[in-house]
Amino acid sequence: MANDLVIQDLHVEVEGKEILRGIDLTISKGEIHAVMGPNGSGKSTLANTLAGHPKYTVTQGDIRYKGESILKWGADERAQKGLFLAFQYPMAIPGVTVANFLRMAVNAKRRTNSKNGASKPIAIPEFRKLVLQKMETLKLDPSFATRYLNDGFSGGEKKRVEILQMAVLNPEIAILDETDSGLDIDAVRIVSEGVNALAGSNLGILVITHYQRILNYIKPNFVHVLVNGKMAISGGPELSLQLEDKGYDWIKEEVSSGK
Ligand SMILES: Nc1ncnc2c1ncn2[C@@H]1O[C@H](COP(=O)(O)OP(=O)(O)OP(=O)(O)O)[C@@H](O)[C@H]1O
Ligand SMILES: [Mg+2]
Repeated sequence: MANDLVIQDLHVEVEGKEILRGIDLTISKGEIHAVMGPNGSGKSTLANTLAGHPKYTVTQGDIRYKGESILKWGADERAQKGLFLAFQYPMAIPGVTVANFLRMAVNAKRRTNSKNGASKPIAIPEFRKLVLQKMETLKLDPSFATRYLNDGFSGGEKKRVEILQMAVLNPEIAILDETDSGLDIDAVRIVSEGVNALAGSNLGILVITHYQRILNYIKPNFVHVLVNGKMAISGGPELSLQLEDKGYDWIKEEVSSGK
């Protein structure tokens, strides 16, 4: 249990406006959770808050990871300790190649997780082998390794490179914010297979999506619907099929008549 990500009564403000209004969610390793919900309901706010984006202020509640509150941890520390966020809109970093970026991230994680802070950087041949193998799984051309991160990448290429980062970093909790948006039909399958290759008892996954399609590949154990900053309803995989069919209005109505 100590490995769970536990979100308790989470309230979050952005630029002085309350966006999340009391979220409770627990993600254990080995579980796949999907979060769906209308545009602007707070899904990315939840993802960015979990990742430690400084713009998002937690005003109430807690986020606990491996038994510890992580509210005071910076984004770097969270990533190095095994939390990973694939962004809805990945940023370009001109001047930093994909390979260098990944190597810095891998080494930072090794440093954080070594007992006395004295771990050696990953050997170059070992790193090269790791990255090339993961690129092959994701059907990414090896030439991407030497390109500047996300600079001029197509929408779908950015999403694949996000999952490449996840594959190389091997996180314990991964949050995928609309990783499927912008992917062509084959790429949804390829990227999902890449995620599934990592899924298992050592990884907890939170998939944020608008579409049932990715959930046919990355099969969730739990589906949650975020409406207006609160989890309106949670259920099993059948819930996402129901949403595909009926949209969100019935949930919004239940929310406004009920709680
Ligand atoms: N940095 C910000 N400044 C001002 N408002 C923000 C900021 N970030 C988020 N918001 C507002 O918070 C609300 C929730 O946004 P969020 O991006 O979390 O929604 P979402 O559920 O991810 O939507 P989508 O499905 O369109 O990605 C929106 O009304 C948005 O305008
Ligand atoms: Mg979003």
